Amino acid sequence: MRMYDIIEKKRDGFELDSEEIRYFITEYCSGNIPDYQAAALLMAIFLRGMNERETADLTTIMAHSGDMVDLSEIPGIKADKHSTGGVGDKTTLILAPIVAACGIPVAKMSGRGLGHTGGTIDKLEAIPGFNTAISREVFIKNVKETGISIAGQTGNLAPADKKIYALRDVTATVNNISLIASSIMSKKLASGADRIVLDVKTGSGAFMKSLEDSVKLAREMVKIGENTGRRTVAVVTDMDIPLGYAVGNSLEIIEAIEALKNKGPRDLMEVSFELAARLLEICELGTLDECKQMVREAVESGRAILKLEELIERQGGNKRVINDYSLFPQAAYKYDYISQYDGYIASMKTDTIGVASLELGAGRETKESSIDYAAGILFRKKTGDHVEKGDIIASLYTNKQEKISPACALLDKAIHFCESKPEIKP
Ligand code: URA
Repeated sequence: MRMYDIIEKKRDGFELDSEEIRYFITEYCSGNIPDYQAAALLMAIFLRGMNERETADLTTIMAHSGDMVDLSEIPGIKADKHSTGGVGDKTTLILAPIVAACGIPVAKMSGRGLGHTGGTIDKLEAIPGFNTAISREVFIKNVKETGISIAGQTGNLAPADKKIYALRDVTATVNNISLIASSIMSKKLASGADRIVLDVKTGSGAFMKSLEDSVKLAREMVKIGENTGRRTVAVVTDMDIPLGYAVGNSLEIIEAIEALKNKGPRDLMEVSFELAARLLEICELGTLDECKQMVREAVESGRAILKLEELIERQGGNKRVINDYSLFPQAAYKYDYISQYDGYIASMKTDTIGVASLELGAGRETKESSIDYAAGILFRKKTGDHVEKGDIIASLYTNKQEKISPACALLDKAIHFCESKPEIKP
């Protein structure tokens, strides 16, 4: 088999067979196919697309390129969740304790921030002492004993995806539905859970900008899950606005804690509760309405916040953060971003807001950069809110004073105003 022929076949719009896909993945991962040929094939796939069978093959081959986590030691159905990535997206930190408090074990492997989006692992590491690099044994033991554990993905979880994602990232081939679906689902299949809920983001802060593409991506991932024996459900949620008011690691953990205390922002609680209920539903705990009621009870009774406390304690974190937010890393500088307009916020370019938070230190500029856990943006106003000249729209937090002005310049570009109240998307 020759890589040249495979590239040519896809370039001309033909379907690749399973052996050709397997050859590409195994030989590329073994270092026998150079980056330029792999990049050419990815671009051909990007432009020509892949059908359902090709996407399923790519997914399973990438999933099997490394460890397949075996969760069979943990009794019962195991649940997992994945978001396609957003700004202010702290839903895992709310959903996972709720689902565990409802009796479904959550064995979750999460990632770090990607581009303008944040990652659950970075957020959890904002909790003093919290260890996400736990061994497989500790991970399994914690899920068995407490019903919950969240760990970083090991280097050997779908390594083919890791290598291919790094190439896609620098060759403008990320935003393709089949490639995103297979990338995400390969990691989910390798992570071993039986039931999966997917939060597919749509809008300016998401990888998929249009609702139509987001629905297609959702359907494609659900199909892959179902075809490989994992019951999967997807919810398409709005990312044309940051989720909640907090963007940045410590700020987001605090907001998630508030949500688990039933005091979080409405949009964040709505999305997190919906995802949790859908997951409980496919775990066969009841009808959707009954599952929604279970979710509310888990939060209102305090069982969900106790689950988060258990998770933090088991993974070496300081559980006192739950009632004392001053224990989180504190920023040396706080700057209030003020409205220059009278009117309404018409829209927020959410990816630009993610970049502004990254600029303040909340994300990584390069793979090697370290994160400032205290950095980020706390909004006071969002799309649809009325503002008057001089009102605080957001507070910026950072340990690098020189980052405040570039972050404000990004917010100037991201936030648009209008005179009459705009329509708000559900
Ligand atoms: N997240 C992933 O894990 N993979 C993609 O391709 C896009 C987002």
